[in-house]
Amino acid sequence: MKIFLDTANLESIKKFNDMGLLDGITTNPSLLSKEGGNPKDAMAEITKIIKGDVSLEVVSTEYSGMMEEGKRLREYGDNVIVKVPMTPDGLKACKSLSSEGIPVNVTLIFSPNQALLAAKSGAKYVSPFIGRLDDIGQDGMHLIKEIKEIFSNYNFGTKILVASIRHPIHVIDAAKIGADVVTLPPVVLDKMLQHPLTKIGLENFLTDWEKLKAVNPDIKI
Ligand code: E4P
Repeated sequence: MKIFLDTANLESIKKFNDMGLLDGITTNPSLLSKEGGNPKDAMAEITKIIKGDVSLEVVSTEYSGMMEEGKRLREYGDNVIVKVPMTPDGLKACKSLSSEGIPVNVTLIFSPNQALLAAKSGAKYVSPFIGRLDDIGQDGMHLIKEIKEIFSNYNFGTKILVASIRHPIHVIDAAKIGADVVTLPPVVLDKMLQHPLTKIGLENFLTDWEKLKAVNPDIKI
């Protein structure tokens, strides 16, 4: 399963990228807005730092605007995936951009039928938002199971990019289902690294090493 970071925060991107954990990045207008500053600089910097797929989203809501923006976004780099919303115009743009060799991520997917249509329009990725479904009392992870089953029935090349992830259990469940990608807010990736027994275990190892050093002052590993 690939891990993308769901952020436009350069510090977090550099931190996790240096750890070798990142296969890609997803952004959206809200994430860019949260960082402030000039979004064009942020998009240019992210596509430079990350070698894998970077999703950058259009803000036009009609076909020709999406096409123009998609092509402009693609100028940031060959690793740019154009993100379009799950709307009739979005699907039309997905079809056209994909047939011109520009990969597309169809975002704001909340039903298996939407995922099926996005796949048929040639999307490289579909982004089902599981946390937002959980928020309204629906089972977000069930949607991932359904999309997985449908895509395997027809051998669609489209990848399932699980989005709107809220906590590490979402990641485990998505991995058990066999989702292709999870996109994680930095706080969730941070939590995945931690375990209290790892912390306690390391403290004990270091304390015991200090005891050895007390009787072997010149010892070094
Ligand atoms: C995905 O591409 C979206 O940017 C994101 O996962 C949405 O998450 P949210 O529901 O936490 O805003």
